[in-house]
Amino acid sequence: MTVVQEAMPRMVSRVIPVDPFDLVIFGGTGDLARRKILPGLFRRYCAGQMPPTSRIIGAARTDLDVAGYRQMVAEAITEFSDPTPPTDKLDAFLAQVCYVAIDAKGESGWAELQQLTEGADRVEAYYFSVAPTLFGDLAERLQLWGMAGDEARIVVEKPFGRDLATAKALNGTLAKYFNEKQIYRIDHYLGKETVQNLMAVRFGNMLFEPLWNAQYVDHIQITVAETVGVGGRGEYYDKSGAMRDMVQNHLMQLLCLIAMEPPARFDPDAVRDEKLKVIRALDPVLPHHIMRGQYAAEIGNEVQQPSYREAVGDPRSKTESFIALKTHISNWRWAGTPFYMRTGKRMSARSSEITVVFKETPHSIFGEEAGKHRNVLSIRLQPNEGITLGVTIKEPGPGGMRLIDVPLDMSFAEALGGDIEQVDAYERLIMDVIRGNQTLFMRGDEVEAAWAWTDPIIHGWEARGEVPKPYDSGSDGTTDSHELMRRDGRKWREVKP
Ligand code: BG6
Repeated sequence: MTVVQEAMPRMVSRVIPVDPFDLVIFGGTGDLARRKILPGLFRRYCAGQMPPTSRIIGAARTDLDVAGYRQMVAEAITEFSDPTPPTDKLDAFLAQVCYVAIDAKGESGWAELQQLTEGADRVEAYYFSVAPTLFGDLAERLQLWGMAGDEARIVVEKPFGRDLATAKALNGTLAKYFNEKQIYRIDHYLGKETVQNLMAVRFGNMLFEPLWNAQYVDHIQITVAETVGVGGRGEYYDKSGAMRDMVQNHLMQLLCLIAMEPPARFDPDAVRDEKLKVIRALDPVLPHHIMRGQYAAEIGNEVQQPSYREAVGDPRSKTESFIALKTHISNWRWAGTPFYMRTGKRMSARSSEITVVFKETPHSIFGEEAGKHRNVLSIRLQPNEGITLGVTIKEPGPGGMRLIDVPLDMSFAEALGGDIEQVDAYERLIMDVIRGNQTLFMRGDEVEAAWAWTDPIIHGWEARGEVPKPYDSGSDGTTDSHELMRRDGRKWREVKP
């Protein structure tokens, strides 16, 4: 296997080409394909990771010929990735792209797709970038037309169900045609560089792991704050809300990576077994330990941004765009340590951060005057990825021993030379599908366990007819989310860009 070296100022990133593949993208003209999948594949092509004999086959209802699809792909690349892609690279990439107009629920297009992919000695992957209601139809037709061989892989997007029952039904449908080793359930948070860095930081260093438990950790905070509102996704979002859209999947995955036991190996089942144990050990969330909010209208200088209810077009919507909650993991490592999580739209800054707040020293040799101090380890996921460790030192100057906390701050970009290649989560995950590596994908039982924890919370709100509280756009969420912390004598970290 050839190894291509990409020279960088102080870093060299190794790009190992994957085996030749055919990737069929159902929903190939859709938003996700245009924004993420196709531009991502182009970047991997330019990086030398995608072999020139591989093919990308768009498949969708739209009546397009191959030339028309290539034109659409080129436009997607210039709009969402590179406004001026090198012409020779773009032409060579487009030569590997083709298109089949297909009916997911009917017969048209399937014979053509079968003919295209038949007999090719290469990895076959089918990306279901369509509504989950079509997953069953696609899986069934792939089998009917002989395209669901033992080595074929399917990639499915979230939302994977909207509760435990629908997730089980979906798993059951897919299991009729494919085995678990062939199913790649995407949670794009797992493809983020810094989310993987969580595992590297925890299990690649001796320093942290001995302290990573209830004896030394006071509490853990996970914040995923966004500045965007629901935008044009109101119809989908109003049926989901922050719980289904973010907590059940992305925040749950972050929680698992921060709290799981060290897996014996970095391999798919070893890692996913440990994550599953965390989800199964989660305590139910008490109603007064979870706060929900909806953003209010923002009067900007020039443009007035709509409130959540205006954005989704329902003046009585009870769906939340913000959540803050406290939970516990009932196992030996974490008994008694609270985990606080919050996420929301239209918050003051785009900032995702995991913070481990350590306990105070058991005894202060400096007396009361020195005050109370805690080490705080903060892992910034986006933007400005990096780690900050708050350490206590002596306040400089003569006279007395006063202590202050100072940050040991490391930005990954600076530490690595400032010019590291940014690989989008989708690029990495698609390459993992081709490589046949499921480590960063959710297993069926993991998704079900996450819904089993989420369902009673949502049912509780519905049964009590609870309405989320309003919060100001550009704030850090509802006032009662701060109360949640204050009651415990703690404070959320400031949401900083
Ligand atoms: C998606 C959610 O899964 O993740 C969106 O549906 C959310 O509502 C997005 O905005 C956040 O992803 P990122 O990568 O921008 O943090």
